[in-house]
Amino acid sequence: MSGLPIRVVTFSRHGSTDEVGRWVARSLAGLVDASVYQNDSTGDPETGLGAASRVVVGMPVYANHWRPEARRFLNRCASTLGQREVWLFTCSLGGGLDDLDHLEPELVPVGLAHFGGKLDWDRLAVPERMLMRALGQTSCDRRSRADVEAWAASIVRTAALT
Ligand SMILES: Cc1cc2nc3c(=O)[nH]c(=O)nc-3n(C[C@H](O)[C@H](O)[C@H](O)COP(=O)(O)O)c2cc1C
Repeated sequence: MSGLPIRVVTFSRHGSTDEVGRWVARSLAGLVDASVYQNDSTGDPETGLGAASRVVVGMPVYANHWRPEARRFLNRCASTLGQREVWLFTCSLGGGLDDLDHLEPELVPVGLAHFGGKLDWDRLAVPERMLMRALGQTSCDRRSRADVEAWAASIVRTAALT
């Protein structure tokens, strides 16, 4: 795999997707320069894209949609991302969303993965708790670090072929 940098960009609301992004970056770190941008960081998610040859974008699912900040980023940066190899991942308690129709046509991801999500009651806002309680949800963590690391390994294998 070439030593060109990989940028991992995550759009978490309560932190679990950011953590998965850090697991991906850590798995890649021995092989490439992998840096992470989290949307609670200061600065702009577009910064660093120019120098990266490959980009991993992670987002949670809320109300059956990718987080709006992530969708806006993917659409706004579609032309830049269209010139990079891009992998997407989602985190959620239900199934993954694999409808890519809403992406700009120039952005064609190399891969899309879905990982289980995490619900941490202490982090939720009151309306979120009310909704989750109504749905019978309790705190849980369905993420598998082994699955995340296996996926990161598949990125390395795919990228090595290009
Ligand atoms: C208010 C709320 C709405 C959610 N809506 C969905 C949903 O529609 N589908 C789903 O599979 N998971 C849903 N989840 C679960 C989140 O996707 C999961 O907790 C995810 O790990 C959160 O990521 P984050 O910690 O990075 O924000 C919801 C969680 C909350 C708190």
